[in-house]
Amino acid sequence: MARLLDSNDMLFHILVAGGTGSGKTNAILYMLDLLFRKEDKGSVLPALFLFDPAGDASIDLLRAISPTERNRVVILDPQYVTFGFNLLSLPEGLDAVEKPEVLQIQVEEFSALLSDVFNTDATTAPRLMWIFKGALYYLYTFTNDPTFWDLYNIMLLFTKKKAREVEDLFRRRDMNVEIIEQTLEAISKLPQDAYMPVINRISNFVLPPSSITFRTFCSRKSTFDLEKLMSPGRLTIFRIPSSLPNEFRRLFSSAVVMQLYFASLKRAKRLERSGEQPTARIPVVLAADEFRDIGELKILRTILSQSRKYGLYLWMVVQTLSEIPEDLMGSIQANVGPILAFRGSPDDARKLGKLLLPQRAETVETLIPGLEDYAALVRKRPVGGRLVEPPFRVTFPKLRDPVNEYAGALSYMKGDMDRAYGGAVADRNLVYKKDQELVAKLRGDCPLEIPLYWVPLTYLHRNRGWNPFTPMAEEFESDHAWGPDVLKVALSRLVDMGKVQQKIDIWKFRAGTDAKTGKPIWKDPTTEDETLRAREAFYSISEDAQKEYFVFYNKSAKSDRAGGDVHVALIKLVLEEYWKEGAWCAVDRGDRAGPFPDVLVLHPKVTMAKAKDGRQRVTMSTEEWDEEKRMPVESQATPSKNPDGVMNDYERDMKGWGRMRFVTATRNDIETVKTILQGKELSMVQFVHKDVGLPQDELENLLAAEKQPVLQAGAAEGKGSLAGAEQALASVERKPDPSIHENELRLLSVLLSSGYKNRPTLASGLGVAPRQVTRYLVHLHKLGLLSRTGKRYLLMQEGRRLAERHDQGMPGGPAQLKLA
Ligand SMILES: Nc1ncnc2c1ncn2[C@@H]1O[C@H](COP(=O)(O)OP(=O)(O)OP(=O)(O)O)[C@@H](O)[C@H]1O
Ligand SMILES: [Mg+2]
Repeated sequence: MARLLDSNDMLFHILVAGGTGSGKTNAILYMLDLLFRKEDKGSVLPALFLFDPAGDASIDLLRAISPTERNRVVILDPQYVTFGFNLLSLPEGLDAVEKPEVLQIQVEEFSALLSDVFNTDATTAPRLMWIFKGALYYLYTFTNDPTFWDLYNIMLLFTKKKAREVEDLFRRRDMNVEIIEQTLEAISKLPQDAYMPVINRISNFVLPPSSITFRTFCSRKSTFDLEKLMSPGRLTIFRIPSSLPNEFRRLFSSAVVMQLYFASLKRAKRLERSGEQPTARIPVVLAADEFRDIGELKILRTILSQSRKYGLYLWMVVQTLSEIPEDLMGSIQANVGPILAFRGSPDDARKLGKLLLPQRAETVETLIPGLEDYAALVRKRPVGGRLVEPPFRVTFPKLRDPVNEYAGALSYMKGDMDRAYGGAVADRNLVYKKDQELVAKLRGDCPLEIPLYWVPLTYLHRNRGWNPFTPMAEEFESDHAWGPDVLKVALSRLVDMGKVQQKIDIWKFRAGTDAKTGKPIWKDPTTEDETLRAREAFYSISEDAQKEYFVFYNKSAKSDRAGGDVHVALIKLVLEEYWKEGAWCAVDRGDRAGPFPDVLVLHPKVTMAKAKDGRQRVTMSTEEWDEEKRMPVESQATPSKNPDGVMNDYERDMKGWGRMRFVTATRNDIETVKTILQGKELSMVQFVHKDVGLPQDELENLLAAEKQPVLQAGAAEGKGSLAGAEQALASVERKPDPSIHENELRLLSVLLSSGYKNRPTLASGLGVAPRQVTRYLVHLHKLGLLSRTGKRYLLMQEGRRLAERHDQGMPGGPAQLKLA
């Protein structure tokens, strides 16, 4: 047989066809083995690659190779070897000319492949393809090695249908505008429920995190170097376990083909540049024992037609010719060298007859179905477009007998290979994460992402201290239609994130139902049984979360913006009001690049639905924000002194969001703002005035005094030790501690009952040194609880509220209060 078909006939594309069990696998193993052992007579040994879909063939081959030769074999099976293979990796070292070309091929292939492999519905395939295309182009702007984990997460982001956010993300990157637009269009048009089956199938790649596939396919760098494996005399076997879902095998095999193609392309170019003979090139054979796995690749046409240039040869094994896509058949026919026709169906026989010997196709056709086991009709390669020899019959001998024990081959495959190529770890960092966070910040999005986590935090902020779960759950049920389970999930996640603290303690137990109101009656436990029933989880916002999200530092004092105490007080009132509604408020603390309002408000989406009792019920979304109602809010404490500021606010906010809200401290100021904006379109502008809690004359004094930002007032005043001390303190305490000392609460309540006289009076009333009082006053002022005119301090609304609460002896929040 060797006489008829020797190793020189094998460095071509080869088509092997035949029914199951007819001997195809045996034949390619035989040929690979022949090339592997090929005596080197001056020519270069080829590099060999085999996809072994079943798994037994490779063991057979491994057992037939002597231990001394075995170090030329690499066999990678994800079940045994912790190797990493990033399917999406682009080749290293591409230059500026090569990169776009390679990138385009890669993205085109993968987006077609992915949408084909993962889709379940042909009608959505074109859109899905665009979505994959956009996702991939986007990811490749960050790295040459995006992982499936990146891809999976970006797809999840797309499903949230935040088209505008996706657009913001895309536009920041160097991406083709047409691709951006097509992708966005596809995202907005793809029906929501079309995503889920796709996402679920991708998730097989990445979940659970302990899975083989996650480790293998989500490590950023492959643990083997394909170019090194393309060296002479090497045999690399990819053993693809049949336990892996079909789509894996296709993506895996297709990715190897593409990466081999890119590597040979690169090598060919290098040889070309260095002026070497193409004969210096190492031939590469890729035996695909399951051609179906790679049959969809468009690149196959190129590989088939350009083989001489790249030295990459495909051996394609099919059980029936119908596995070959119709539009590829011509390309195969034109470029394939040897054809091995094993026993097959009459239908295939007819087609093969024409391929093997067109002038006597019928004769060949009748032979094929009757071929005995392991025998094939072989057509050698055509020369110059003409068949020079008629086909002949070959019975492939069985692969040589094993020279190794099965156990020995197995331990090589597991142990040696793992030592050489193992150790892959999935990379959980998302390449676009930083960018996404930045965009979210610029947009004023909630860093906790969804209302589910944000809304409970606003409750715990409002109700500082420990809140028993039960009344909180009741409130969420009646206000937002969130069940206790939903709230529990949110709180436990917040506890995990360190935003909320939890403790288990005794609270009250349910002693029955009030006959009149139908509301539960809660009692303090007295017996052991009641105590048991009164066990309750308590929640409290963590200091960190309180500082992170709810403390508003007045930076405006440093900027040239008009304002000061009243400006800050207004913003605080606005914030508290919106937080009460569960809204997220992005605040301009002077740390935002680009145009940004004082506060940008984002409400959770709210839907009205009929409840069981037939009444309309408000349901707050746990997942979605109401993007359509993003509202910029501007605080204008002294509009008459700041007409340019008013106009700027208007122009910026209307341009950015198409609507806005002005907040002023007095009714008159609303009129002032309107006068400044005379002639402007005001139908989308809201005006509100907020009572900062000062008597009218005091407020007027205060506003009148606010020529300069208030923190500088101390310096302007420039006399007395108080101002000096304040200044010193102000510079030390850049960021005031948001927690309030008990003495400070007492101070607030003294101010509530008898107003501000002077420091010594306050000091003796509190029993502390005057110096300490100064410290308190400065701190409370910074927290916005007090305002200042000259030397006098006045209670602001929030300070008044705290003082009143303190007087009633209530350290806790309204939750406890209501139920007491
Ligand atoms: N020349 C031979 N002599 C003896 N046994 C052989 C020979 N060739 C193949 N076999 C055996 O026949 C069986 C089927 O052969 P093989 O696996 O090559 O078929 P196949 O065409 O690849 O089938 P499938 O399409 O199912 O993969 C195998 O167990 C193989 O070891
Ligand atoms: Mg087989």
